[in-house]
Amino acid sequence: MSKIAVLGLGTMGSRMAARLLAAGHAVTVWNRSPGRDADLREAGAKAAATPREAVQDVEAAVAMVRDDAASREVWLNPQTGALAALPKRAVAIDSSTVSLAWARELAAAAAAAGSDMLDAPVSGSRPQAEAGQLVYLVGGDAAVLQRVEPILQAMGGAVLHAGPAGAGAALKLAVNALYAAQAAEMAELLGWAARAGFDPARFAELIGQTPVCAPVMKVAGAAMAAGRFDPLFPVELVEKDLGYMAAEAARSGAEAPLTAATRAVFRRALDQGLGDLNITAAAKLYR
Ligand SMILES: NC(=O)c1ccc[n+]([C@@H]2O[C@H](COP(=O)([O-])OP(=O)(O)OC[C@H]3O[C@@H](n4cnc5c(N)ncnc54)[C@H](OP(=O)(O)O)[C@@H]3O)[C@@H](O)[C@H]2O)c1
Repeated sequence: MSKIAVLGLGTMGSRMAARLLAAGHAVTVWNRSPGRDADLREAGAKAAATPREAVQDVEAAVAMVRDDAASREVWLNPQTGALAALPKRAVAIDSSTVSLAWARELAAAAAAAGSDMLDAPVSGSRPQAEAGQLVYLVGGDAAVLQRVEPILQAMGGAVLHAGPAGAGAALKLAVNALYAAQAAEMAELLGWAARAGFDPARFAELIGQTPVCAPVMKVAGAAMAAGRFDPLFPVELVEKDLGYMAAEAARSGAEAPLTAATRAVFRRALDQGLGDLNITAAAKLYR
């Protein structure tokens, strides 16, 4: 059993904390807005008033918050940030989907503070978080990862070491860009199929039976055709991640026309008020 802090109790963080509790760990939780920890406290978690308070005495601290700004706040806020109070033997783990630039800056700040840090974003959504079947994409020192692997395995079905600091963040942005590009294309194709006189549900089902269709698109295509848009991976987070990917491409001078086109689709979805709906709501643009 380890003492672990979970910082951020949104859709993903709350379920990850629940998995840690179920695995028998001692968990202290913190969330910016009050009132999101009731179920976790009932299941045995302790609540802390700040990230700094939450990490007293822990072996690992896991942050799962929205974006770069939130991650900066959680780790580095001069009064309440976790990093300054992290015990020396502990590992700081950021599982938020953030930019590569921020993941590297945070890793440098952790190194300067003498703390071990991993960027460890996850592939998978709410159902995988609930089932402890997330796929961890980890950047940082392999020996540090080895120390916390049993903790990550309580929340994930696979733990993949991607490379040095920032490699997990980079891989996560690439995975999401690939997912979003395919979802945007599937939405477009089903809209076209309907206009051409085909049944979109049957069309999606048949595409799903060909070798070119990724398993995740089989699910997304069926959901689009059935009009299922309940938020798992909401449009506003998809657009955030595509924005990070586009910025990284521009910074490194890489050409990324498909990322730009995909981002334009999800920006249009945001502009049409679809931000809180699932990634599958891209289909609404083509009805
Ligand atoms: N949903 C998915 O399918 C999925 C899958 C893989 C990865 N991710 C990534 O995982 C992260 C969390 O996603 P989620 O779906 O759990 O999001 P969410 O439900 O929207 O929760 C966001 C969390 O971030 C916190 N937060 C936002 N701004 C903050 C700030 N400035 N300071 C401190 N805390 C702040 C929120 O606190 P409040 O309660 O106070 O707003 C909340 O705890 C994101 O980076 C997302 O891209 C999501």
